[in-house]
Amino acid sequence: MGGTTVRALDGVDLDIPAHTFTVVMGPSGSGKSSLLYLLGGLDRPTAGEITINGERLDQMDENALALFRRKTVGFIFQSFNLVSSMSAFENVSFPMQFAGISAAARAEKSRSLLGQVGLADRGHHKPSELSGGQQQRVAVARALVNDPGLIFADEPTGNLDSASGIAIMQLLSDLHKSGRTVLVVTHDPRMTRFATHKIFLLDGRIVTEGQYQAAVSEAAQASPG
Ligand SMILES: Nc1ncnc2c1ncn2[C@@H]1O[C@H](COP(=O)(O)OP(=O)(O)OP(=O)(O)O)[C@@H](O)[C@H]1O
Ligand SMILES: [Mg+2]
Repeated sequence: MGGTTVRALDGVDLDIPAHTFTVVMGPSGSGKSSLLYLLGGLDRPTAGEITINGERLDQMDENALALFRRKTVGFIFQSFNLVSSMSAFENVSFPMQFAGISAAARAEKSRSLLGQVGLADRGHHKPSELSGGQQQRVAVARALVNDPGLIFADEPTGNLDSASGIAIMQLLSDLHKSGRTVLVVTHDPRMTRFATHKIFLLDGRIVTEGQYQAAVSEAAQASPG
């Protein structure tokens, strides 16, 4: 950034076992999105190794990375990232156009996925006609179109009230129970109740839960309210 080097992640060394529901906790700026973007093949590390399902992400060329993103990972963004001019149904079916799936099969799959996230009757609504929680459900359905084994979510509940947030986490938890590996980054401690594994980040480094809690309560005392 300008003349300064920002180390968004520094010496991070971690293992995420398959079929777990891992929650990465960290305050704003601690490197959560950076970590998720690296693991999702949306960004490349300056140094270090990333191995997913036995394959080295940091050594893949752009074509291999694009294939990895399409086949292996379902990504859910904090801000939903839905196309505003498209209905919920179109938002879900759109990515399948690039996977060589017939129109009839796309339509059936989209209907089934919208049903799975509880939006069977909302397919024709545009994002602006849906609540935040419903928009995030559409984003979850879209992340599932190519049957990914990995689901990565960046603050999926950040823009939601707590009831909608818990419902989204419940949905992600169901996906974990159906055999997927789920990784969620968040700063919201209420979201850890579904986690099988927890990782704590401070200033781009992995710390223990004790170190993390101490830093969080210190920050709260420094700026009460
Ligand atoms: N493109 C960039 N150029 C320079 N610095 C960046 C860039 N992206 C992120 N950073 C810096 O890297 C660090 C980690 O950012 P990151 O977005 O990963 O944090 P985060 O934990 O996701 O924060 P938030 O909770 O606010 O989303 C921050 O200090 C940030 O300012
Ligand atoms: Mg972030």
